[in-house]
Amino acid sequence: MPREDVEDLELELLLEALYRHYGYDFREYARASIKRRMWRRMMEEGLATLSGLQERVLHDPACMERLLLDLSINVTSMFRDPTFYRAVRDKIVPLLRTYPFIRIWNPGCSTGEETYSLAILLREEGLESRARIYATDINAAVLQQAKEGIFPLDRMQEFTHNYLRYGGRCSFSDYYKVYGDRARFDPSLLEHAVFAQHNLVSDASFNEFNLIVCRNVMIYFDRALQDKVHDLFYRSLVRSGVLALGHKESIRFTSHADAYEELDRQEKLYRRVL
Ligand SMILES: C[S@@+](CC[C@H](N)C(=O)[O-])C[C@H]1O[C@@H](n2cnc3c(N)ncnc32)[C@H](O)[C@@H]1O
Repeated sequence: MPREDVEDLELELLLEALYRHYGYDFREYARASIKRRMWRRMMEEGLATLSGLQERVLHDPACMERLLLDLSINVTSMFRDPTFYRAVRDKIVPLLRTYPFIRIWNPGCSTGEETYSLAILLREEGLESRARIYATDINAAVLQQAKEGIFPLDRMQEFTHNYLRYGGRCSFSDYYKVYGDRARFDPSLLEHAVFAQHNLVSDASFNEFNLIVCRNVMIYFDRALQDKVHDLFYRSLVRSGVLALGHKESIRFTSHADAYEELDRQEKLYRRVL
């Protein structure tokens, strides 16, 4: 068997092992990117083969945590893509105002920047008290950071820039306090938010939502897995609820494409109509 084929087999067995032992299912993630990440972990652990990585990961949960961080890229920012937040304010907020109580799901929330941005937007639009944000991620370590709401001070410039481009109504620095080289966000912003671990691949729907904001998560999934997650979103949205995706994602070509109307093509905002 050529070396390449042996490695593909090892990768398959490793993914199967992660799923069977830990319940993390990366079997349908886009292969090239998952292979690169596995290789990096293998090298960093000082191992020669993916089979070696499989052995370590099965016997050492700390190695699983490290691998998980490698596999789930956590890059995020506050008011990432400011035009997206403007579209939410202009096109979605008027819809949200029609509900007496608003439930928002923010899966793949990473370290919480997206959740804080949504919380700030809701506060500035006067919707905070009737909204609840359920922010979830597969990775417990990033969720812990999200709950703490402490970010490196040197990121505030980028966050403030995004906030200004979005057209925020206040002064961004009112939302955090500086402690040395860190900024702590106002904990009251999260009074109406809940953080919990949830795996989009294997966990079930847990509520009905008026808005689902899931950005830059499904780019790592292959088509079959995207379909599966879209099915979960479809079942988790109320009729007329809105699904918001990342700039590089789309509902088109998925099995539920016909159930949505496009509210904003550029910003990937879709409203469930069926
Ligand atoms: C690139 S970050 C996106 C963060 C944020 N949504 C944004 O757009 O700025 C992707 C996040 O998806 C999470 N993720 C990856 N696979 C997941 C899964 N199966 N279920 C839930 N979250 C997942 C990762 O842990 C990571 O925090």
